[in-house]
Amino acid sequence: MPVVPAVPAVPAVLALVAAALLALLGAGRAAGPGAWVPLKRWALGCLLLCLGACRQRAAAESNRTFVIARLARRPAGLCEMWLFLRLDGIGEFEHPQHPNMMVRDESKEIWSGGGLTMEYLKPQRCWKINFDGLLRKGSYRQQWSEEEGELVPVKFSLQWENSTDVFNFNVDSNPSTFARALAQEPWTIQLFQRVKKQRKQHFRHEQWGQSVGEIEIGNYGKTELSLKGIRSHSYGVRNWAEISRYVMILAHFEDGTAAHLTVINMPATTTHLTVGYVFFPDGRKAGIEWSNASLAELAEDGVIQDQYGVSFTAA
Ligand SMILES: *[C@@H]1O[C@H](CO)[C@@H](O)[C@H](O)[C@H]1NC(C)=O
Ligand SMILES: *[C@@H]1O[C@H](CO)[C@@H](O)[C@H](O)[C@H]1NC(C)=O
Ligand SMILES: *[C@@H]1O[C@H](CO)[C@@H](O)[C@H](O)[C@H]1NC(C)=O
Repeated sequence: MPVVPAVPAVPAVLALVAAALLALLGAGRAAGPGAWVPLKRWALGCLLLCLGACRQRAAAESNRTFVIARLARRPAGLCEMWLFLRLDGIGEFEHPQHPNMMVRDESKEIWSGGGLTMEYLKPQRCWKINFDGLLRKGSYRQQWSEEEGELVPVKFSLQWENSTDVFNFNVDSNPSTFARALAQEPWTIQLFQRVKKQRKQHFRHEQWGQSVGEIEIGNYGKTELSLKGIRSHSYGVRNWAEISRYVMILAHFEDGTAAHLTVINMPATTTHLTVGYVFFPDGRKAGIEWSNASLAELAEDGVIQDQYGVSFTAA
């Protein structure tokens, strides 16, 4: 099968991850342009590391530093890599080759290209993400002209270690939210078949952890980083074209509680499905059982507000 050329569309995952982080960290920022353009691409496997920092008591003190790195395995022995970062007080950066950073998928433990190296030391426990190269400074946009965006030398080295067990969306999710979502759809045998197929072809798990390391940007000097965030791994076939829109909210609380809440619209099956989990400080995990989060009320116009209120229960 030929490799599908990278589509210059805004990565949906990123838009939503950034949206979630920004929403959670009390940030005000417009979503990337065309943030909900579906990607007509099929992923074979994908690893997403999304890490954010927030040292906040009052909203005014919130620290919106984050790192998003992604590795997606494609057909024909190729891998696509992403890198986005934001350093509080310095700015936002993305890889200048994005979204066309393709590397050879030769190793099973280490992937590297365009200055970025992602390596795992222990499955589900420890990853290393290093970068040494040039990044484009400026807020995210779909297309850059050659003259735009200053290229800045950036060097960082982060080690991620898990702080929770794995939440397996296919096994650990609470059936109530799925039952509720399905009950909202007109019932046909075709719907049932599409749901069955979807559930058999795509798998995903996720865990929380902490990344520690150091970053050096241009002549801003060195900064120590300590970021909490998720490692999300999905595999099988995920057809982005089937997803109309989704919003993902990630939260980490001072007492160690971590939560994930996604509301997603897949017109072929469920137009309003809620999924997610809570990890309690004692390590216990629970699937989201109910939430009042409504897609229609969350950034439908593509603009991310400073604050959102959602309620949910998990059991
Ligand atoms: C880290 O992940 C491993 C493998 O999933 C798990 O056994 C371990 O309990 C996790 N560590 C913590 C602190 O949750
Ligand atoms: C923001 O958080 C990062 C990561 O913990 C830290 O390195 C940085 O110094 C913080 N910045 C500010 C302005 O507090
Ligand atoms: C959901 O509950 C939260 C907290 O009570 C509230 O702020 C929010 O407005 C509710 N959302 C909807 C759509 O009812």
